[in-house]
Amino acid sequence: MSKPGDYAAVRRDIVAQLKKPDYDDGSAGPVFVRLAWHSSGTYDLDSDTGGSNGAGMRYEAEGGDPANAGLQYGRAFLEPVKEKNPWITYADLWTLAGAVAIEEMGGPKIEWKPGRTDLVDDSKVPPRGRLPDGAQGADHLRFIFNRMGFDDQEIVALAGGHNLGRCHIDRSGFEGPWVNNPTRFSNQFFKLLLKLQWKPRTLSNGVQQFNYFDPDAEEGDEPLMMLPTDISLITDPSFRQWVERYAEDKDLFFDHFAKVFAKLIELGIKRDEKGTIINTDNIKGGYVSAPKKSNTPTGPLKSQTGGDRARL
Ligand code: HEM
Repeated sequence: MSKPGDYAAVRRDIVAQLKKPDYDDGSAGPVFVRLAWHSSGTYDLDSDTGGSNGAGMRYEAEGGDPANAGLQYGRAFLEPVKEKNPWITYADLWTLAGAVAIEEMGGPKIEWKPGRTDLVDDSKVPPRGRLPDGAQGADHLRFIFNRMGFDDQEIVALAGGHNLGRCHIDRSGFEGPWVNNPTRFSNQFFKLLLKLQWKPRTLSNGVQQFNYFDPDAEEGDEPLMMLPTDISLITDPSFRQWVERYAEDKDLFFDHFAKVFAKLIELGIKRDEKGTIINTDNIKGGYVSAPKKSNTPTGPLKSQTGGDRARL
């Protein structure tokens, strides 16, 4: 067991959880990044509610939100880390795991600061419906991300998170990876958005997405995909200029992504000049490392979905 405050030990234990040969593309990294993003992306600037404090996904009100389907895998993969470092809060662990995963998958260094506390009950869990819907377009992206305090450039940089991981038909209803190497962070997502011919496709569940059908594909090759929201990044002129710049200049993208992801995981957090969190909950309650909600992922079984994705 590590000493309270030994975040370097937690980092090492997160790294040790990344390799998962029987899961998805062999890494827990992408689902850690999504967990960090969804635990922060509920923030509402006007009411100053939601955000990365609290780890509300331990409660059904937030954890059971269909927008968070599949994130139980990320949470369960982090349980061994929590067991070895019981002093860390879930809110810190989930955001740190996202930052560590990005770095370990070849992305930029993400500034991460500790001090988030865990909610002790579900009274402050943000309402559902604050996370983006991939079936929509540019107006929706602005509606959702402006609410958190992000502008067009930041929206496009953040959407570069889709260089990692994949869609699962039994989680979001969409299917497939965005890039050929979904466990390596890069600017490939932007390059492919501009370069390939994206054709609308309706899946057997009625969900519409975009796919590229490679004429040289071999049997069993999975076609690359884009969400309707991803395609809006090239049809909306203000978004598109950033897609073009990030496709051309990987260093610029890495720099902007590091800044915007660090901002994302600080949403709803207020610090004094020493970096100490001064939100009322944190001052009153201290650094509350709350108990976990459930030990097992609660997603549909492989046999229930016919999916080929291994369960935990
Ligand atoms: C722009 C609005 C966004 C929409 C509409 C969106 C939507 C989605 C959807 C539908 C999935 C598939 C989930 C599944 O089936 O497992 C997904 C996965 C993912 N998203 Fe996003 N997302 C957005 C922004 C972001 C941001 C800001 C990040 C991080 C910076 C991010 C990182 C990821 C990652 C890493 C995955 C893969 C997860 C995995 O492999 O399990 N997304 N997203």
